[in-house]
Amino acid sequence: MMTIVKKEQIAKDTIEMQICGTSIVSSAEPGQFVHINVGDGNSNLLRRPISIADVNKGEQMITIIFKVIGSGTDQLSRCIVGEELDVLVPCGKGYPIKSLSITKALLIGGGIGVPPLYYLAKQLQEKGVEVTSILGFQTKENVFYQSEFEQFGPCHIVTDDGSYGFKGYVTDLLDKESVEFDYFFSCGPTGMLKAVSKRLENHKGYVSIEQRMGCGIGACYACVVPTCDESNGFKKICKDGPVFRVNEVVL
Ligand code: FES
Repeated sequence: MMTIVKKEQIAKDTIEMQICGTSIVSSAEPGQFVHINVGDGNSNLLRRPISIADVNKGEQMITIIFKVIGSGTDQLSRCIVGEELDVLVPCGKGYPIKSLSITKALLIGGGIGVPPLYYLAKQLQEKGVEVTSILGFQTKENVFYQSEFEQFGPCHIVTDDGSYGFKGYVTDLLDKESVEFDYFFSCGPTGMLKAVSKRLENHKGYVSIEQRMGCGIGACYACVVPTCDESNGFKKICKDGPVFRVNEVVL
């Protein structure tokens, strides 16, 4: 059980929440997620996967950011400071940056795929990696965390309608700006991940897949995706992912 210690709306329909209460959070890696029970009962069907946006190990606290898009996230958005949440943490496999030799990283996030890249950027900076970010949103009122990402290096904001920052998609900005990097790390809607993977097909990178889940711990097969190399069969997004090597699984 974790307690909500802060809740704030940071963009349209977008809530930042800080929850604390277990030392396990200190083992969380960028790209992992929490599976939160948003109902009154114990059914895993009432859980929602939400990526970890930041970790404060000293205070045993994590930050999550979610968009209110359905009944589950609406219910979560109505929880108040002081309330307790039933949370599985940390879940899945994150970005394997500890094992990578890397000097320059390009982070590409879209919408609610932006939050996990914040904790990733923080960890990369601690490793001495130069970080450039491209963050895509639908429109100006959806934009969040620009100044937070600017702490780590150049941060380009892109909106679909051009109401803020560069007009277009994240891949359009890649065509306009030349960015040097060893690895890219991306998280966002599947369409964006597909476009990014194709645009950067000659680069090394990792993508994190957004997916509605059942159990969240590898037991129900609700989240399987085929691998690109058919001989490897299927992968479970909740347990083998949500982060995969680019072109490891079919998007
Ligand atoms: Fe149950 Fe992935 S959500 S196996």
